Amino acid sequence: MPDGASRSAIGADVPDTRKRIVVGVGGGIAAYKSCALIRDFTEAGHKVRVVPTESALEFVGRATFEALSGNPVQTGVFTDVPQVPHVRLGQEADLVVVAPATADLLARAVMGRADDLLTATLLTARCPVVFAPAMHTEMWEHPATVANVATLRARGVTVVEPASGRLTGKDTGAGRLPEPEEIAGLATLLLERPDALPRDLEGRRVLVSAGGTREPLDPVRFLGNRSSGKQGYAIARLAAQRGAEVILVSGYTAGLDEPAAVETVHVRTAEDMKVAVDKEAGRCDVVVMAAAVADFRPSTSVTSKIKKGAGEPDAIALTKNPDILAGVVQARRDGEIPASTLVVGFAAETGDADGDVLTYARAKLRRKGCDLLVVNAVGEGKAFEVDHNDGWLLSADGSESALEHGSKALMASRVLDAVSAALDPAGGE
Ligand code: C5P
Repeated sequence: MPDGASRSAIGADVPDTRKRIVVGVGGGIAAYKSCALIRDFTEAGHKVRVVPTESALEFVGRATFEALSGNPVQTGVFTDVPQVPHVRLGQEADLVVVAPATADLLARAVMGRADDLLTATLLTARCPVVFAPAMHTEMWEHPATVANVATLRARGVTVVEPASGRLTGKDTGAGRLPEPEEIAGLATLLLERPDALPRDLEGRRVLVSAGGTREPLDPVRFLGNRSSGKQGYAIARLAAQRGAEVILVSGYTAGLDEPAAVETVHVRTAEDMKVAVDKEAGRCDVVVMAAAVADFRPSTSVTSKIKKGAGEPDAIALTKNPDILAGVVQARRDGEIPASTLVVGFAAETGDADGDVLTYARAKLRRKGCDLLVVNAVGEGKAFEVDHNDGWLLSADGSESALEHGSKALMASRVLDAVSAALDPAGGE
């Protein structure tokens, strides 16, 4: 049987796409969240080994980690010595994710210590390594931690930006562990593309709109669309993890959680979204309009529910909504926002008898006047509400590239590569 293949129940050789993931767990209260992370990885079919520190076991018992991963759990380098786990686990891993990473663990990783199984594993790992820090704000902002994070990043390690919010006790601030699903998403993106999270947007301010607007008819009914917000949220999340300060102007989504380290502003209608975007656009280096803005709204919206009545219903009169993207481009032409502001639009297109997807997309890029246009080929089971996407990226300079099929996070990373390349090098840090 070839390497990387396994025999399925029906006997055919099928490629073994399962990855070996080491989940390191530091000794902080957020250790309990690592249980959900481990479950996310095992449910996705990966082979998980949990390597806690001794102090992590003060928070979550060994049996829990063993049951969730289906593998034995040890913390030291002197158990199972003939198997040389202190070298083998790191060498064989496809991905190492440390969540939560405490200030102490970051410091020990920087020093290259190898006095327990987790730090030894970190020294032998040659795969992508992700640290998801969780600690009190004072510890996160301490110059020692700041320097340690910078050192790890300079070595090519991904150190996830923590979320802001409620910490242990009554404190709030930066230092919260992002939700397990978010950590799993960022970590598995590195399995798809190990170089997907460079810190190339540090010092940049990025505005992303996402989700769909709802245009009310009455207090219970609206005109809306099927946008899940997943692609826009993925761009906002990744931009923040690539170092940008991110404002996400969000319409309605499929119940998505706010991304970590992103300032999220919630809006309802196209007009609300325009107000929020116009307010921030002038202070941003990049504006990405990924939202599905309703093109029309009911001309009147009443405050009490429209009754069914006995006869035929009245037709709904519609009014055109402002084009927010075109408005940002116009504001740039008029000098109301800096000429260097990079404007990115989205297009959900299908071809027809008169032209293919790209023909329509090229025309849209010219019409909208934006710098980059991300084109999704939509249709049955494509783009809307699903986790995968593909399409094209068109640039106002005439260049065009295909965006390969992959997760929405992968597509977001490709879009941000183009953004980063198109940004004025004089800006940022
Ligand atoms: O014209 P179309 O709706 O296909 O254009 C899509 C692009 O324009 C997206 O980037 C979307 O966010 C933006 N848009 C907008 N305001 C509207 C409609 C679309 O900013 N009213």
